[in-house]
Amino acid sequence: RTVGVLLAGGVGRRVGLGTPKQLIRIAGRSIIEHTLALFDAAPEIDEIVVLMTPGFTAEVAELVAARGFGKVSQVLEGGATRSETTWRALRALGSDECDVLLHDAVRPLLEPRIITECVEALKEARAVEVAIPSSDTIVVTAPGPGGEVVQEIPDRARLRRVQTPQGFRLSVIREAYERAFADPDFARRPATDDCGVVLRYLPEVPIVIVPGSERNIKVTHPVDVHIADALFQLAASTAPAASPAARREAFDGRSVVVFGDA
Ligand code: CTP
Repeated sequence: RTVGVLLAGGVGRRVGLGTPKQLIRIAGRSIIEHTLALFDAAPEIDEIVVLMTPGFTAEVAELVAARGFGKVSQVLEGGATRSETTWRALRALGSDECDVLLHDAVRPLLEPRIITECVEALKEARAVEVAIPSSDTIVVTAPGPGGEVVQEIPDRARLRRVQTPQGFRLSVIREAYERAFADPDFARRPATDDCGVVLRYLPEVPIVIVPGSERNIKVTHPVDVHIADALFQLAASTAPAASPAARREAFDGRSVVVFGDA
């Protein structure tokens, strides 16, 4: 059994609309609706749990009912940090062993191929992470005389940019989070993703890399809304079997609409 967990508990401070960014409409649908539709249609996913920003769970529950996303079993409130949101999801999953795919709800351009490969990899591995090579050189900085200075330039060939989903045996990710939340240092140095928690608290568990995709962007800054809009249009215009209705829906987002209809 594989459970998809959609992490949508954030507020989207960097996009800065004063409303959670997962509710922004792109290509005719809200971002979270795109992500829900992907997971609901994936044959490998048996159940979906959504963690939404406090105060907005009713909105998501209505969307789930209206669109008939039948795999969604729970819509819960997220926590104050991404890690707390994940921890809430893990505690809501019951005691039966299963595989869990944790996905940022604000990555609406995930390809079904990546879900398939994560689930396949979890037949052998207990932890998988989706990542792509970095086209930019990445440097490590340190405070220096007169400001921030370059301290180290890691070999780019070995660097990867991490995306989601990240997949785990439920017992493994639970154990990692139990240890994290029992560790006072975790609050001071929080993790930015779930594999980071496994690496820190269960370092003996190998984390297998599944190739991600340049399209699988995380809507983080205002410019990403426009990039995602363009990527949806590109997909709609190049999909060989796209119906006129599907194309119209995708092009509907040409000028991005926030809350409400075009
Ligand atoms: N997330 C979450 N619970 C939180 C914080 C984040 O479930 N307390 C989710 C977000 O909703 C998003 C994903 O984690 O789907 C990636 O986080 P990020 O892009 O940082 O989202 P926000 O926290 O909403 O953005 P910002 O940091 O700009 O406020």
